Amino acid sequence: MAILPILCYPDPRLHIVAKPVQGVDDRVRGLVSDMLETMYDAHGIGLAATQVDVHERIVVIDVSEERNEPLVLINPEIVWASAEKHRGDEGCLSVPGIYDGVERSDSVHVRAMDVQGQSRTIEADGLLAVCVQHELDHLLGKVFVEYLSPLKRNRIKSKMLKRQREDRA
Ligand code: NI
Repeated sequence: MAILPILCYPDPRLHIVAKPVQGVDDRVRGLVSDMLETMYDAHGIGLAATQVDVHERIVVIDVSEERNEPLVLINPEIVWASAEKHRGDEGCLSVPGIYDGVERSDSVHVRAMDVQGQSRTIEADGLLAVCVQHELDHLLGKVFVEYLSPLKRNRIKSKMLKRQREDRA
């Protein structure tokens, strides 16, 4: 297992659209292990492959209090989303230190394969539903700050670039 570097907004690679996984083999399982280790190490509740510069449809999530309920979604697709929506603050490992409100469906049903290649449908609500929608956006090359106003987004972009310059100095 290995901790992978996480891309930081506004890295253009965060906007690459991920391709479907062709088969769940040892390579994919190795990547999933590394993604889980990376997510736990960063104290995140979700991580998309896009964020570690792998452009395949793979997401790992753990919204449990004890951090012991890993959920692996390979080739996930939202097959149903509730019309009821709520705005809640979100953060992202690729946009550290920034939290802002995004409107999401209260519940979603997501079909995905697990690490055995078994397809199943998961019914998600609450924090898990928000997390699923946030991570699936990453696979489409979308970061949550893109839901914010251009003014806010530009302010965040400047802040991130300034911080990255300082880190390099
Ligand atoms: Ni994120």
